[in-house]
Amino acid sequence: MNYETIITETKGKVILLMLNRPDQLNALNAELIDELGDAIKNAENNENISAIIITGNDKAFAAGADIKEMKDKSFASSYMENFISRWEAITFCRKPIIAAVAGYALGGGCELAMMCDFILAAESAKFGQPEIKLGIIPGAGGTQRLSRFVGKSKAMEMILTGRMMDADEAERCGLVSRVIKDEELISESIKTATDIANLSSPSVFLAKDSVNYAYNSALSQGVEYERKLFYSTFSLNDQKEGMEAFIEKRKPNFKNC
Ligand code: CAA
Repeated sequence: MNYETIITETKGKVILLMLNRPDQLNALNAELIDELGDAIKNAENNENISAIIITGNDKAFAAGADIKEMKDKSFASSYMENFISRWEAITFCRKPIIAAVAGYALGGGCELAMMCDFILAAESAKFGQPEIKLGIIPGAGGTQRLSRFVGKSKAMEMILTGRMMDADEAERCGLVSRVIKDEELISESIKTATDIANLSSPSVFLAKDSVNYAYNSALSQGVEYERKLFYSTFSLNDQKEGMEAFIEKRKPNFKNC
């Protein structure tokens, strides 16, 4: 599939989706969001792909929703069009999605990264929700997801002031899972995605589902939900294979069933 605003590259069972509007710091316009959604849907339907990486370039993961495109919107047009709902495609994907972030991840860029399953950050990464400086507020989940990642105090400070945080601060407060040297970001992300892709896909899907449930439920409901999913994994051939392989001291050969 040919896209105008993203580049796709397959590495074994992993697909890299590279945001590609470098002149605009990968500002997220409607075309890019639609193409990204389409590429994610295609990856989800492609049985040869088991993990997805979304990345940008050295300078920017994405500097936010496209301000030039949004400038003339009205309440009525944006409400009726509900343009942010298009962004949600990524959150419906059951395959694991890693955000590999170098440079700016601001506004919608930070929100896009937070929609992924986890964030690997290059040392150069800078995260922020600067919408307040434009006279608006975050609109693609920033007030909700950032608060859950970093807690109220830091989320409130970031969102009310628009200040950016660097990769170290983002790791300290739990926004990113790891910080990696810039030159190793892509290779390390591919390695991590490949490690996941080589596991039992049904178990990976269930694990992702269960972690996500933690954000939508009370603890007792979540623990109960996890327990049922855990029991369900005993219906998988991959569970028998994984445990037999452990006992026989060999590598498992998962068949994704
Ligand atoms: N939308 C549209 N264009 C953008 C953009 C954005 N979010 N961010 C950067 N650009 C464009 C600039 O307009 C500029 O284009 P031109 O050369 O055509 O003028 C180009 O990218 C390079 O940007 P700068 O010259 O500004 O680069 P810089 O290195 O001096 O500064 C920056 C980098 C600090 C990231 C600065 O570009 C910036 O502050 N960008 C805007 C960040 C922002 O406010 N993001 C939130 C957007 S609103 C949102 O995302 C809503 C939501 O929640 C859904």
